[in-house]
Amino acid sequence: MDPKTLGCLLLFPIQMLYCIVRATVSCLLPARRKSLAADTVLITGGGRGIGRHLAREFAKQGAKKVILWGRTEKCLKDTCEEISRSGTECHYFICDVANREEVYRQAKVVREKVGDVTILVNNAAVVHGKSLMDSDDDALLKSQHINTLGQFWTTKAFLPRMLELCNGHVVCINSILSQSPIPGTIDYCTSKASSLAFMESLTLGLLDCPGVSCTTVLPFHTNTDMFQGMKVRFPQLFPPLKPEVVAQRTVDAVRTNTTFVYLPWSMRALVILKSFLPQAALEEIHKFSGCYTCMNTFKGRT
Ligand SMILES: NC(=O)c1ccc[n+]([C@@H]2O[C@H](COP(=O)([O-])OP(=O)(O)OC[C@H]3O[C@@H](n4cnc5c(N)ncnc54)[C@H](OP(=O)(O)O)[C@@H]3O)[C@@H](O)[C@H]2O)c1
Repeated sequence: MDPKTLGCLLLFPIQMLYCIVRATVSCLLPARRKSLAADTVLITGGGRGIGRHLAREFAKQGAKKVILWGRTEKCLKDTCEEISRSGTECHYFICDVANREEVYRQAKVVREKVGDVTILVNNAAVVHGKSLMDSDDDALLKSQHINTLGQFWTTKAFLPRMLELCNGHVVCINSILSQSPIPGTIDYCTSKASSLAFMESLTLGLLDCPGVSCTTVLPFHTNTDMFQGMKVRFPQLFPPLKPEVVAQRTVDAVRTNTTFVYLPWSMRALVILKSFLPQAALEEIHKFSGCYTCMNTFKGRT
């Protein structure tokens, strides 16, 4: 073995140790937060649900401009007016993120009318809420287009300029179901898992791009219209998250350059358990917690 390779091999465990110590120390110290004063934030699905709270929170924490994308004009307009009243410049555009041509067309309009987007928040998603055999093919395709491919198009539209400016942040509002799927919503779990892989790959791919970072947020059940009717077995133990909390934690993660955020943090335990428990034990956890049947009462957006 040549001396250079040997040197690298010996150095590697020390680098690992350094990373672990640095991460532990930074958990204990107050994090430095970057200012959003020069940032233009675009939020897909920004008219309602978590997206609306994200718009409020980015504005509250000092973003220069907020842009909302979505399909329902009324929600977009209401949110846009609220943000503008609070003193932050806000714009909205009708854009179906599942439609590639529309995404590229509206991205161009945004650049011309508002300017460069420096923070892209991929938040828009749908849930069909059915098992595979109960789902019609069009509904399955729709979820994949919105929840997975939509991110490809929006990121392809805005990332090149962020790389030119050496200034940008791509955010994905994912879900804990991407790592711990449940039955009865196979479209959502599959598309969110794919979206997580997209973000993991993008995050690593941008390692050599100074000034451009990624954040992936993996929330537990959140109190919006998306999963209406879904019931867990112990709601007192596992209450749904408030959308405003998801928004606060997301904006804070952007400001502190945090790559992955589990909400609540205890959801990390699920991922750890999955890595070593036998399948039979995992199945028992799903039955005991009610995850196995929680989608039986699902109504969704009514
Ligand atoms: N609620 C939960 O329990 C939960 C838990 C974990 C993660 N999440 C994630 O959090 C994010 C926001 O969910 P939410 O709870 O706020 O859901 P929501 O209230 O149903 O809002 C979904 C948003 O996505 C937009 N949207 C849907 N399809 C779109 C399309 N084709 N093009 C553009 N916009 C589209 C909707 O606007 P229009 O209909 O006007 O287009 C709406 O603003 C999603 O990524 C979701 O997966 C939610």
